[in-house]
Amino acid sequence: MISVRVAHTAQLDPGTLAAARALLYAVFDDMTEHDWEHSLGGIHALAYDGGELVGHAAVIQRRLLHGGRALRTGYVEGVGVRADRRRRGHASEMMEALERVIRDAYELGALGATDDATLFYSGRGWRLWGGPLSALTPDGVVRTPDEEGAVYVLPVDGVPLDLSGSLTVDWRDGDVW
Ligand SMILES: CC(C)(COP(=O)(O)OP(=O)(O)OC[C@H]1O[C@@H](n2cnc3c(N)ncnc32)[C@H](O)[C@@H]1OP(=O)(O)O)[C@@H](O)C(=O)NCCC(=O)NCCS
Repeated sequence: MISVRVAHTAQLDPGTLAAARALLYAVFDDMTEHDWEHSLGGIHALAYDGGELVGHAAVIQRRLLHGGRALRTGYVEGVGVRADRRRRGHASEMMEALERVIRDAYELGALGATDDATLFYSGRGWRLWGGPLSALTPDGVVRTPDEEGAVYVLPVDGVPLDLSGSLTVDWRDGDVW
């Protein structure tokens, strides 16, 4: 049986969190502890197939500065499906749950996509950010040109966006986007 569980980090027991972390280490060759930590503190979507965890995704809150506003943003992290269970709709089901959270709780959705996943996100209505990207670092606003072409946003009704304008993300350890 296939199902998706949606829960806050605080509602997941240590065994479930350890299984999700192990899954992401299996999916991403370059996975780090910072990457795992970036998935914590928000809402997780966990995909199960026959009782086995086969997919994980999470949305956490960040602030993205755009058009003179600090938009309350649902930032998607840690999206991965076990290699032998792909193209069966698991990621779509997880994202459907998280996109509902974004639309109901945030002013914007955002994520940094891998090359492998760009068709997946664009097919779901996520839009490639076309303007300059920056981060609000401890030393001030710094451009992050390496991430340009990889950041996607999910617009939320009623929040004006200029996809060719600038977008600045709050600070964190590890990869900033
Ligand atoms: C990207 C990923 C999460 C997709 O998971 P999935 O469960 O296979 O996705 P779904 O089955 O829900 O795919 C839905 C649709 O997205 C598109 N899609 C998904 N993976 C795709 C790929 N590799 N290439 C092209 N289109 C893809 C297809 O349109 C697919 O529908 P179809 O199978 O009917 O053609 C998975 O491939 C993965 O874990 N990749 C490695 C980790 C990664 O890059 N994660 C993204 C981090 S931003």
